[in-house]
Amino acid sequence: MKSVKNLPLTDECHHWTHLGEVPWDLQKYWQQRYTIFPFYDEGIYMTEDAWYGVTPEPVAIHLVYDFVGFISADKRTVIDMFAGVGGNAISLAMATEEDGYTPRFDKVIAIELDAATLACAQNNAAIYDVADKITWVLGDSFKFLELLANSPDKLGADLRVDIATTTIFASPPWGGPGYRTDEIFDLTTMEPYNLAALHEAYKAMDHALYLPRTSDLRQIAKLVPDGVKIDVVQYCVEGASKAMVAYIPAAVEAPAVSPADQSMS
Ligand SMILES: C[S@@+](CC[C@H](N)C(=O)[O-])C[C@H]1O[C@@H](n2cnc3c(N)ncnc32)[C@H](O)[C@@H]1O
Repeated sequence: MKSVKNLPLTDECHHWTHLGEVPWDLQKYWQQRYTIFPFYDEGIYMTEDAWYGVTPEPVAIHLVYDFVGFISADKRTVIDMFAGVGGNAISLAMATEEDGYTPRFDKVIAIELDAATLACAQNNAAIYDVADKITWVLGDSFKFLELLANSPDKLGADLRVDIATTTIFASPPWGGPGYRTDEIFDLTTMEPYNLAALHEAYKAMDHALYLPRTSDLRQIAKLVPDGVKIDVVQYCVEGASKAMVAYIPAAVEAPAVSPADQSMS
């Protein structure tokens, strides 16, 4: 698996400027384009699917602020597991230390399965002048983590990051709009990756999960041992929650029991 630069925009990538160009089912999202991307008119490109899942910029910015507060200062790499059109990756790449100048992350890796979507993300990041600060990967982010843990030699040199100083941000697909009608969204039914699958893949690292606003908090709480704190934040735009984010600390392995300890017990 290797990083990719400058993927070409395709017929699936759009920058719509008039309502008449927009498919009817996307028109209400397009009407919110300046909330989603305030610099939309500078040439933001989206795929049709991306309108449903993109993180609006005000949420992405606030979320990075919270994410940085959640992780320790020695975490210098962040992986955006589901880059989409760049809503979160751009804000992660723009994050700075308190001096307002030094980048908070030495490396931002953004992984996306779909080539047209990734091309939009690269285009959009260029508008914010951060395209070259992001290491882009076209592929399956679960496969990426598996290679990182077990066969790092199969990753390009710029992707072989140290797990000990790496954190994860994940805004997975939510499996269509069904979550909107559920009073409490059952995260075991989230498709194509449910909460257990996400947590299993990410648990070695501090990770933030961007989830439906009605997600079942009891299911999230069960991811960590009793007494361990998980922050869960609702992110709102114009008074309405868009999503909740769960900030989940890396699992601490139980200390190995030495033969001497065993004989004492
Ligand atoms: C909810 S969207 C992410 C939106 C993104 N945060 C943004 O602001 O644009 C989920 C994205 O994950 C991508 N995806 C799905 N499975 C993936 C996988 N296994 N690895 C990488 N990307 C994946 C989808 O193509 C989709 O673009």
